[in-house]
Amino acid sequence: MTALKMKIAVFASGSGSNFAAIAEACRLGELNAEIVLVITNKPDAYVVERARQANIRVVAFQSAAYKTKDTYEEAILAMLHEAGAEWLVLAGYMRLVGEPLLSAYPSRIVNIHPSLLPSFPGIDAIGQAVAHGVKVTGVTVHLVDEGMDTGMILAQRAVNVVDGDVDKTAEAIHAVEHDLYKETLNSLFSR
Ligand code: GRF
Repeated sequence: MTALKMKIAVFASGSGSNFAAIAEACRLGELNAEIVLVITNKPDAYVVERARQANIRVVAFQSAAYKTKDTYEEAILAMLHEAGAEWLVLAGYMRLVGEPLLSAYPSRIVNIHPSLLPSFPGIDAIGQAVAHGVKVTGVTVHLVDEGMDTGMILAQRAVNVVDGDVDKTAEAIHAVEHDLYKETLNSLFSR
């Protein structure tokens, strides 16, 4: 008997290569999940185009349109409930998650970060690693809490810094991210 597919919402603000990898894994049956919604805070992000091409519902929420961060997240929450989302999968969502989402999805929000946390949290993790001169960096998948990239670590994989170059290293990191996210989500959803 096939287990029911996990209903997930992907949060993304950028190019959406992780979204695309997850969507493809769902399509191929490599991940027993269905993306019921894509949430973005950047209506012109390339992830919007990718979601449309994949025929997945995408909704843009701009925090400036709301009085507070709580009301912004409550609007998102209403949409998540309507779509039946069971897990929130952050893939380049460039905002800290607040109390409304955290309390509605306790230990059910996951993020991917392009470094071996706790090294290089926050923005431009690959640039930080290269500027620091480390030879090995990597990828971390972790649960989301109220901090900046501080939640419980679920999986990590090392990636060599390539020629001290941010772009080349980013390319190597993205390839690893796409595999590691799929594997980690698979083990989370089969618990
Ligand atoms: C990834 O490097 C991810 O680790 C970070 O944001 C980036 C998103 O890339 N949180 P993409 O939009 O999925 O291509």
